[in-house]
Amino acid sequence: MKDPSFTADPAGLRLALEALLDAPDGAGSQALPDTLPESGLGEKAVIERLKPIVLGGARRLGAPDAFAHMDPPTPWIAWATTQWNAALNQNLLHPDVAPIARGIEARVVDWLAPGFGMDGGHMTPGSTVANLTALWAARELRGVRAVIASDAAHLSVAKAAHLLGLAFHPIPADTCGRLNRDRLPDDLGNCALVLTAGTTSAGAIDDLSLSGRAAWTHIDAAWAGPLRFSTRHAARLDGIQNADSVAVSAHKWLFQPKESGLILFRDTEPAHQAVSFGGAYLAAPNVGLLGSHGAVAVPLLATLLAWGRTGLAERIDRAMGLAEDLRQRLDSHPGAVLFGPNVSGVLLWRPASEVSAPDFLARLPAGSTSVTRIDGVDWLRNVAANPCADIDLLWAGIERALA
Ligand SMILES: Cc1ncc(COP(=O)(O)O)c(C=O)c1O
Repeated sequence: MKDPSFTADPAGLRLALEALLDAPDGAGSQALPDTLPESGLGEKAVIERLKPIVLGGARRLGAPDAFAHMDPPTPWIAWATTQWNAALNQNLLHPDVAPIARGIEARVVDWLAPGFGMDGGHMTPGSTVANLTALWAARELRGVRAVIASDAAHLSVAKAAHLLGLAFHPIPADTCGRLNRDRLPDDLGNCALVLTAGTTSAGAIDDLSLSGRAAWTHIDAAWAGPLRFSTRHAARLDGIQNADSVAVSAHKWLFQPKESGLILFRDTEPAHQAVSFGGAYLAAPNVGLLGSHGAVAVPLLATLLAWGRTGLAERIDRAMGLAEDLRQRLDSHPGAVLFGPNVSGVLLWRPASEVSAPDFLARLPAGSTSVTRIDGVDWLRNVAANPCADIDLLWAGIERALA
């Protein structure tokens, strides 16, 4: 039976595109039904109904003053190819349902892994799953019993240890937010050491030359990993090439729609075997944590083809430059106290006055700044995820609030 819901309706698709381009500012007032509607509105009416709610109410991550979180705007080539993905609905679990997409993922991983000294890996929905996959491989291949990381490591590391039945030993971070290497135990023979390249709160990069000191070294480069593709900043991650595994969130500084990430391995074949299951209805082994999963490599491939390495690096360098500009302005303002240098585009600062950071945040434009707590102190946090930010505009808001 021919069902128009499953065939392209150019007028409907155009309506959806026009809604996106012409999105209203501010959420509409139309409430959603409390219960599952008995009968449908039809697709075009749904576009009109949802436009003010979904599009109007959303935060714009590419807005000139958006500088608050590790969430970048996404390029239009990724919007377009994500729509292709939604239409095709390929499932990478089955080679016959995704004859091209599996090869595309392998190709993208082949392009990116050497930047980190890794020889392969696979895509994940982000670094939470990438960190879990890495520690799973470490447990299977090296028999690790415990995970050591700084207490500034992302919560997904403790979560992964918990899920895998591994002990978790957090080591205090130093005053710059880096793992304090003096506090590491001498014997790491049954441990996975997790180092962070770009901590969530402060953007600190642990001493990556510690790679190789433990039975397995995993580097959580969820945020700062893409600095590897910048000629100017790649050296900040030197040492990463000696890790056993690396996690990168492509939906952060690779500018991808969520959920998109990578787990990369130095020696991929045994690592993939260690985290694979097969048999029954599967024509190919199921590698990693996910069962059915989509072709998130397609928008990543499209973005990398559109920009090339230099185009990616230019955007990351630009974002780093904006963070540095903001750091210098904050540093020379008597009303602001900085936490530390600009290591990976994350700046922490607080007003020198008695005003608390959360109270101060309320004076700043929504979406421009966030708050994080380190050792009991609240800091304002700006994150250079948005290469389109206008620091003059952001600074005008900060100066006004500091006055
Ligand atoms: C350092 C670090 N690791 C891991 C994660 C988790 O990554 P994801 O949100 O991609 O699952 C984050 C998220 O912000 C992070 O900052």
